Amino acid sequence: MKKIRCLVSAGPTREYFDPVRYISNPSSGKMGYAIAETARDAGWDVTLVSGPCFLKVPKDVRFVSVTSAQDMLEACKKYFIESDILIMSAAVSDVRPAEKSSRKLKKSEIDLNPRLERTPDILLTLSKEKKKQILVGFAAETENVREYALKKLEQKNLDCIVANCVSGEKSAFASDENDIDMIMRSGEIIDFKPASKIILASRIIEFLSVRFFGANAKPKSKI
Ligand code: CTP
Repeated sequence: MKKIRCLVSAGPTREYFDPVRYISNPSSGKMGYAIAETARDAGWDVTLVSGPCFLKVPKDVRFVSVTSAQDMLEACKKYFIESDILIMSAAVSDVRPAEKSSRKLKKSEIDLNPRLERTPDILLTLSKEKKKQILVGFAAETENVREYALKKLEQKNLDCIVANCVSGEKSAFASDENDIDMIMRSGEIIDFKPASKIILASRIIEFLSVRFFGANAKPKSKI
């Protein structure tokens, strides 16, 4: 049977304005790495494009290390063409400094009101290049989680989106646990119930297998 080719993005991106200073976010990459490992264990052919994370590189996956949103876009573009599914769990920085110094700035030189520019929206860009690929997004929200997630699904022309909350004590950022809903194009919402990211990764891959590739592709369940 032909292997399912899966492209997963994970972790934060870093947008440097000099060699030692950057804009980023607290994403650990745990969810994306767990998804990549679970997909590999399910027999999928996995490419993991990762921003800077402090996690062990998973075995038997193609691993591509990137730093900025622009790097991540280029890497994802390269492997997207030959993928059956993209799972975009990376927390891509939305902005970057408009100017970047090649040497460390003295603190007296740092512009306290730096000009920022938007980074490319990777999912949106790839959704315009989509042929038969299934597109799965992640929505990081602090309020109106389901409503905003559904909006993103529509705006970025996704097949489904994982909605998670990133505020307060239960923030998904850097935690080992998560509480997610899967939202489909039809508006159907599947509550995955709070669990560890390892277990949720298993539920996500099992769900995607059944919905998009037929039950034969189901992984060994860790639930
Ligand atoms: N994403 C992306 N490129 C960006 C920003 C986000 O590909 N420059 C992807 C994320 O990987 C995620 C989805 O888009 O799968 C939603 O990301 P999120 O940060 O929740 O939302 P944004 O689109 O950035 O919108 P906002 O910050 O306004 O909530």
